[in-house]
Amino acid sequence: MLVSAGVRGSCFLLIIITCVGFVSARITSSFVRSEWPSVDIPLDHQVFAIPKGHNAPQQVRITQGDYDGKAVIISWVTPDEPGSNKVQYGKSENKYDSSAEGMVTNYTFYNYKSGYIHHCLVDDLEYDTKYYYKIGDGHSSREFWFQTPPKIDPDVSYTFGIIGDLGQTYNSLSTLEHYMQSGGQTVLFVGDLSYADRYEYNDVGIRWDSWGRFVEQSAAYQPWLWSAGNHEIEYMPKMGEVIPFKSYLYRIATPHMATNSTSKLWYAVRRASAHIIVLSNYSPYVKYTPQWRWLREELTRVNREKTPWLIVLMHVPIYNSNSAHFMEGESMRSVYESWFVHARVDFIFAGHVHAYERSYRISNIHYNVTSGDPYPVPDKSAPVYITVGDGGNQEGLAGRYMDPQPEYSAYREASYGHSTLELKNRTHAFYHWNRNDDGKKVPTDLVMFHNQYWASNMQRRRLKRNHRKAGIATDH
Ligand SMILES: [Fe+2]
Repeated sequence: MLVSAGVRGSCFLLIIITCVGFVSARITSSFVRSEWPSVDIPLDHQVFAIPKGHNAPQQVRITQGDYDGKAVIISWVTPDEPGSNKVQYGKSENKYDSSAEGMVTNYTFYNYKSGYIHHCLVDDLEYDTKYYYKIGDGHSSREFWFQTPPKIDPDVSYTFGIIGDLGQTYNSLSTLEHYMQSGGQTVLFVGDLSYADRYEYNDVGIRWDSWGRFVEQSAAYQPWLWSAGNHEIEYMPKMGEVIPFKSYLYRIATPHMATNSTSKLWYAVRRASAHIIVLSNYSPYVKYTPQWRWLREELTRVNREKTPWLIVLMHVPIYNSNSAHFMEGESMRSVYESWFVHARVDFIFAGHVHAYERSYRISNIHYNVTSGDPYPVPDKSAPVYITVGDGGNQEGLAGRYMDPQPEYSAYREASYGHSTLELKNRTHAFYHWNRNDDGKKVPTDLVMFHNQYWASNMQRRRLKRNHRKAGIATDH
């Protein structure tokens, strides 16, 4: 059994016992940390504070606005009246020499009437540049900033955070605060945002609003790339609400049109050295559906010479050994797994299961009902599957695992937390999962990953040897 601990710095200072085997190194951590009860933070708590001033913009957030990271979409809500759609921005604080005009919309949910939801595309930005921006009118205006990513480059370093199933409890707050200390530059969000659908009638909309104010402390300053989960479906016929994803589609912006997607629910972006593909488990995805056709096209656009790291986001994990949601990803696995293996995807991040799990590189693409090969096998071409559904929502942790731990499962633990993925260059990425532990962020599952495209088998053997000598855990 292997134990690891580490500190992140400009170079890696790691005290790790190397894990190289497929079978012998599996870990089921007995550590279970549920720090606070799984209840939502009261609406009058300061994390949900309404900004001062008449019609002041709230729920401010940004996401990538184009394919390559030279644009952002800035979204916000004005509660009382539409107000201005304008974003003023510039490269110096208090000097806004450019502006962009957005659009405004609103919707109803049962008797709840949303505020005025603004989405504004700010494009033609320079790479690797800090921009300041201002929204709202007069004394109620508010100012924020963001940093554009570096130009697409195979060797540029960049750090992503991965958060899922966040909700709005004290555990959610702990996860968000820990993420904000992690040095992450962009959030990959793997679905289930506000858990507002746990409420009824007008409280659904009210809890979407509180959640928007809650995540603003991070999402107004760096892009969150969104994928949708089951809690976004909100099929509630009892309240007369039967349009799937209604709140989500009004509130959340994605750059889906930049990749010819016909839906906000699936799309792709390129950012720094990564090509990121977002899929929807709750939209049609079998053969000939729009999502299937789109993904087939998008995979042909992936150029590992420019973006070595290929990352897929979805909500439902394809490999999951928790008894919660066990095998729910099987139908999508049967449709897409062979594509993921042939494309040599590096990582597939998912949420849904309220715990943490990381797989080895395995595939089950030989199974075809009649083949007699029903079990996943080690496969160096396969992605690593990582479940980070442990953001901290009001449904609590999923602590029951299939026993014994399947051979494909490398590490699993039922605690709250988030992950970070530091892409160092075209061959190496440093990954860790950070557990929330008595108010502290504790790096727990640390792995050095080799790129699936650039690290050839020979290179892998050499790198593995070097890493073993240095005492660094690797992905094989
Ligand atoms: Fe879910």
